[in-house]
Amino acid sequence: MNIEKGPQLIVALDYPDRRSAESMAERLDPAACAVKVGFELFVAAGPGLVEALQARGFNVFLDLKFHDIPNTVAAACRAAARLGVWIVNLHASGGLEMMQAARDAVREVHPETRLIAVTVLTSSDAATLRGIGIESSPQEQVLRLADLAVTQGGLDGLVCSALEAPALRAQLGDAPWLVTPGIRPSGGVGDDQKRVMTPEAAFANGASHIVVGRPITRAADPAGAVEAIRRQMPV
Ligand code: C5P
Repeated sequence: MNIEKGPQLIVALDYPDRRSAESMAERLDPAACAVKVGFELFVAAGPGLVEALQARGFNVFLDLKFHDIPNTVAAACRAAARLGVWIVNLHASGGLEMMQAARDAVREVHPETRLIAVTVLTSSDAATLRGIGIESSPQEQVLRLADLAVTQGGLDGLVCSALEAPALRAQLGDAPWLVTPGIRPSGGVGDDQKRVMTPEAAFANGASHIVVGRPITRAADPAGAVEAIRRQMPV
């Protein structure tokens, strides 16, 4: 398993059960893509699935977006690092102390695991933020939480929209990982993603990794879809 930068294409295994996730994984090449395990699949299938994916050679992004008191989030991140996952994440809005505790826990157990933060969910707009007492615009809040997570908290990067990536690169420099969902290959069909970007444009904007789900998992030939996307990525 290449735990360092790893594959720059991450396939979202958004499935309700282990069998469906494993049958998709069987059709994918761990040298060509990593996989993302989110809430639905992890709650249904548990850490055994993560271990099975890793045994197949996949780098696993455990997308559980932790947000709780520092001690609890640190313990959850420690458990993820013990599993040996490649990436785990949390909500930067949990605050600096929570992020530092999580970072220290990961480094202590398995320093190769990357800890990244979600800033503002792309489903939140200015009205959503006002509703929870935040008067800043989404863009200002993203930049504030990015600074807290990466510059002050020492985290390895962020999950963000590729649309936010240029401003984040300008603020944070080249080093942090910027992992971007909402990617649609050119010429694909639409679904519930509203503001989408092609793989090429996402990397040009500063993404280090892209997350792609349905354009691959619903394709007749998922491995072919992976290859087609890889051809749109810088080498
Ligand atoms: O199928 P699709 O490519 O839309 O899947 C994208 C994946 O990235 C899903 O797992 C989704 O939950 C996740 N995601 C997203 N937008 C965000 C954050 C995460 O689509 N802002």
